[in-house]
Amino acid sequence: MTLAELENSKAQSLVEIAAAGDASAIEALRVKYVGRNGSIPALIKGMKDVPKEERPAFGKAVQAWRAEVEAALAAKGAGAGAEKGVEADLTLPGRWFALGAKHPLSRVIEETARIFGRLGFTVADGPELENRFNNFTALNTPPHHPSMDRSDTFWFDGDTLLRTQTSPVQIRTMMANKPPIRVICPGRTYRRDTTDATHSANFHQIEGLYVDTKPVSLADLKSVLAYFAHEMMGDGVTVRFRPHFFPFTEPSVEVDFSCHLCKGKGCRVCKDSGWIEVAGAGMVDPRVFKHVGYDHEKVSGYAFGFGVERIAMIKYGIPDIRWLYENDVRFLGQLA
Ligand code: PHE
Repeated sequence: MTLAELENSKAQSLVEIAAAGDASAIEALRVKYVGRNGSIPALIKGMKDVPKEERPAFGKAVQAWRAEVEAALAAKGAGAGAEKGVEADLTLPGRWFALGAKHPLSRVIEETARIFGRLGFTVADGPELENRFNNFTALNTPPHHPSMDRSDTFWFDGDTLLRTQTSPVQIRTMMANKPPIRVICPGRTYRRDTTDATHSANFHQIEGLYVDTKPVSLADLKSVLAYFAHEMMGDGVTVRFRPHFFPFTEPSVEVDFSCHLCKGKGCRVCKDSGWIEVAGAGMVDPRVFKHVGYDHEKVSGYAFGFGVERIAMIKYGIPDIRWLYENDVRFLGQLA
């Protein structure tokens, strides 16, 4: 086919399309010109027989023809439908989509980030695969502490482990920044626990850390946790500190919230004590500051860490931790 013949065929194809009266005629023309065995693909296949010097101009003309035919067919397709009165039936019922819901653990983490965000805390992140220094040594854990034992921690080799707590993110944050620091660090943690109704080998914690060159006190820690308890659990929740020990804080406390279900009277959830243990906390030990290269004479701060599952179970009344991991939509859907 010469270029002139091609232009002729093109003009003719466009006339035919313009004259097509119904959808089947349009479809027949689509097959004739641009269908798999149509004349335009045939021309493209035959390009190799066109003399080399004519090939570029010929190729361009074929492509232009194809584009015009497709545009004409598209315009016609829309027109043909309307002419026949085809339109959407607005009385048909809509399609139903099952909407997902946020997982209770994600909700607690996001809500915590919002609450502490109002107090100026940002969210810091760290890896689940940690080293001995960040997870233990820099946190002032003595070399033979039982938590380092193979029966408590998942070790990969003598130095690499799955973090047993979110506290190593404190170390990473302090090594990379200067005070003042205000962060919370949510994330997965791992311990060699046998899974039962209240334990899981893989669970979540949220760490908090505030370090400043201004004096920071235990009272600051208590007020921040009281605010958090109130925002997360609702009115009337009070916070109790009990003395405890953690290698990386001194003094250290365990933090209880008054049971929000029985308002402290005693019930099944709080095991009749009126209190629920939710976190460990304390004033950052000067030795931790030394490990991260801070002058422990000039800075002070507090840290806390709580279990996300624990908060979710109390907040939503979930009696078994395993429900949080089974992904049973009958359970998850109830909290949507
Ligand atoms: N990391 C501690 C734990 O997992 C909790 C904690 C965090 C205690 C910060 C004190 C300060 O038990």
